[in-house]
Amino acid sequence: MSADGATARADGVQEVLAQEVLAQEVLAQEVLAPSTTAVADLTGAGLRERLAADLDRARRRTALLTDAVDDPDLLRQHSRLMSPLVWDLAHIGNQEELWLLRDVGGREPMLPDTVDRLYDAFQHPRADRPTLPLLDPAASRRYVRDVRERVLDLLERVRLDGRPLTRRGFAFAMIVQHEQQHDETMLATHQLRLGAPVLAAPAPGPAPPDAAALPSRVLVPGGRFVMGTSDDPWALDNERPAHPVDVPAFWIDTVPVTNDAFARFVEDGGYADARWWRPAGWAHRQEAGLVAPLFWRREGGVWLRRRFGREEVVPGDEPVVHVCWYEADAFARWAGGRLPTEAEWEKAARFDPVTGASRRFPWGDAEPTSAHANLGQRHLQPAPAGSYPDGASASGVRQLLGDVWEWTASGFRPYPGFRAFPYREYSEAFFGSRYKVLRGGAFGVDPAACRATFRNWDHPVRRQIFSGFRCARDAAAGEG
Ligand SMILES: [Fe+2]
Repeated sequence: MSADGATARADGVQEVLAQEVLAQEVLAQEVLAPSTTAVADLTGAGLRERLAADLDRARRRTALLTDAVDDPDLLRQHSRLMSPLVWDLAHIGNQEELWLLRDVGGREPMLPDTVDRLYDAFQHPRADRPTLPLLDPAASRRYVRDVRERVLDLLERVRLDGRPLTRRGFAFAMIVQHEQQHDETMLATHQLRLGAPVLAAPAPGPAPPDAAALPSRVLVPGGRFVMGTSDDPWALDNERPAHPVDVPAFWIDTVPVTNDAFARFVEDGGYADARWWRPAGWAHRQEAGLVAPLFWRREGGVWLRRRFGREEVVPGDEPVVHVCWYEADAFARWAGGRLPTEAEWEKAARFDPVTGASRRFPWGDAEPTSAHANLGQRHLQPAPAGSYPDGASASGVRQLLGDVWEWTASGFRPYPGFRAFPYREYSEAFFGSRYKVLRGGAFGVDPAACRATFRNWDHPVRRQIFSGFRCARDAAAGEG
């Protein structure tokens, strides 16, 4: 073949890729748009419609993420930290079958029971999953489609006001959140995957005009506030129950820590100075050879990063992402602050000093829209610091939901009065000091899996997740 022929073929491939990417952008804008009616206001047909729409949105996102690559790529393990994408796909269907068809619907298993074991996350660590006799991509797609057909049929007929599992559609909403959480995990796998880019989305807009004039931190007054929830019908067990917590006055950053700020820490020798690190963090920093956030590299005096297969200059005004808890903790000490506790984070997000009540979202109780937060994979990166003034909390804190998950100082522990529901392995098996809590949700989190009470947790060394942070400081005597 002549060089021209090869070039023409390469151009053709580029064109097809460009068309696919464009199609994904349109898909990301249109079908990932969530419904806006508050969950608590839904009953009867409206509730069923909302659940069906949320199930559909999750499935379109799953399809977008799994159709973007070919079969060998679906079967490959892109990092030992992650499952092959085809495992996530069939696991999504298997959990849907187990909870909705078998438990709620009382149906018989659709496949031999060995299949349940293959997709049980507790039986097989991620590193081992590529060696399992998994369903192939075609069989996985067929399975999730067949399960979904039966689930939509069940949703039409099942009572949604009976036992706790189905009350207000909880089990269906739990399965929506489960699928969206795996979609976020698959998005993280895409970020780790090497090779040409296959995902695309428009960049978020520039920071609003007032961003540069925002105070660097705001004071949250001391006193009691209500943490957690007892009445959000789709909240998960670890968010329950609502309980009063006394939180002394504190300062919290108005926006998440940016790439520019983090680069100053790096350039100030932050990674080489044990003073800023707690002993376990320093040991990990040395052993893992950490020198900058994951996916960053320095060339010609400029920080570059790899983002979904593209290399680009690190944008200075964007919240930093892909840092582990130890890095966040060290930065905070270097900057003269500390990470907020989980209670402080939630108070900054929910507490309304005028009414004394706790809101469902920082801006109030209205469902998230594109004016409130960077959620739902509409963009494939955080928005500039100071974005989304309409999403600010009563205290004036911005970007608490969306953009990046925010590490907190706290371990993952049950609230007083916690009861495991619907199963121990959802949260209870993870309680303890091994995991640190993250709050807020990143750009890859769907609104269906995002509330100001939502709690995420991970090991303090993890940074392939979309994790950033903001700092807090104690208030001085007499402040707040
Ligand atoms: Fe799962």
